Amino acid sequence: MGKLINLDNLNLANKKVFLRVDFNVPIVNGEVTDELRIQAAEPTIRYLLDKDCAIILASHLGRPEGKPVESLSLKPIAGILSEILDRRVDFIDDCIGEKVQKKTDELIGGEILLLENLRFHAGEEANDPKFARQLANLAQIYVDDAFAAIHRNHASIVGVAQLLPHAAGKLVEEEYQTLTKLLEDPPKPFSAVIGGAKVSTKIDVLDNLIDKVDSLVIGGAMANTFLTSLGHNMADSVVEQDCLTQAKEIYQKAVSGGLEVILPSDFLVAKEISQNVDTHLAELDEIKPGEKALDLGPKSSQQIAKVVDKSHSIFWNGTLGYAEIAKFATASLDLAHVMIASEAETVIGGGDTAAFVDQYNLHSKFGFVSTGGGASLELLAGKKLPGIEMLKS
Ligand code: ADP
Ligand code: 3PG
Ligand code: MG
Repeated sequence: MGKLINLDNLNLANKKVFLRVDFNVPIVNGEVTDELRIQAAEPTIRYLLDKDCAIILASHLGRPEGKPVESLSLKPIAGILSEILDRRVDFIDDCIGEKVQKKTDELIGGEILLLENLRFHAGEEANDPKFARQLANLAQIYVDDAFAAIHRNHASIVGVAQLLPHAAGKLVEEEYQTLTKLLEDPPKPFSAVIGGAKVSTKIDVLDNLIDKVDSLVIGGAMANTFLTSLGHNMADSVVEQDCLTQAKEIYQKAVSGGLEVILPSDFLVAKEISQNVDTHLAELDEIKPGEKALDLGPKSSQQIAKVVDKSHSIFWNGTLGYAEIAKFATASLDLAHVMIASEAETVIGGGDTAAFVDQYNLHSKFGFVSTGGGASLELLAGKKLPGIEMLKS
């Protein structure tokens, strides 16, 4: 496991710190609907406050593509963070320029300033050296706690780190250690439950995990694609036709490597995706034309529970059904409950899966829920992530 430079490796006393966080939170009708990523920054902020640092917080929000977009302002986040910390958090309506430089020059130990959305400037995503220099000039030290954005080769992730003494924050350190441990030294038997919408977004993760896990459970719409590739009839279910060959190859590689591979054997089916639609259970190959598999059935859930019961570590990514609709959330909830009841190390990754466990208030019952969507999957796919590479000693 490559080691990251951490906060204890820096002389932080009274320093001005540029703290990159990921406050890319969901906002519906102007309201932040999930504060987890904001809460996740608290340990690092508190650590820096204990060292009497002045903290300059920087984040992106959404994809404004290099220009200001009012609905993607970080201003409302300053208020939320202030409540979490029970402390004043100032906001400034840009992240570079004379006004920002002056304000940060005047910042003293214990003060916190949140900058406006980094992606309002094209230099952020382009990793423009001039933009990175302007950000670096605001502070003496760079700390990266933006785990969910650590796979991006952007100025505030890579460029600024090249210009200042740098370290990983507490969240990045914990995420990296937890996910890397799963790949390098998981308590055995180690199982992965991979569901969700698309095989195409999970090929690399599956490919990497089949060399590490003892059991692989496939669920969600992904399972439809796998089952179709093996000659089963999934009727009108969501199937990725252009991934059939890849799915079959992964399945064959897993089985020939001696893995236990669990594919669903029964489903909750309906004619359309809606809360009020009629549903019924169907065995594999008994789904009728016009029907879709939208959740797994009880037999499949029992089979999955058996895998969970014998595992000492479990990674779960991707809901097992169309879990945004309560009717199709049963298999995912069953899985959540058996994972919670098990003594195994439980790790959850993926944006929709984390949102699902939050929605049912189960977040704190798992060993670890990653704040990263794409970032955690890329790490588990064994890829080198630009932000992580910058933080290695
Ligand atoms: P994550 O964001 O956690 O990596 P994904 O984006 O891969 O997860 O998958 C979650 C999505 O998969 C959800 O939107 C869910 O509705 C969808 N999904 C799961 N099972 C099915 C299914 N049987 N049919 C259609 N969509 C499904
Ligand atoms: C995320 O939500 O996955 C991160 O904040 C990264 O956002 P991005 O996919 O827009 O780079
Ligand atoms: Mg998703």
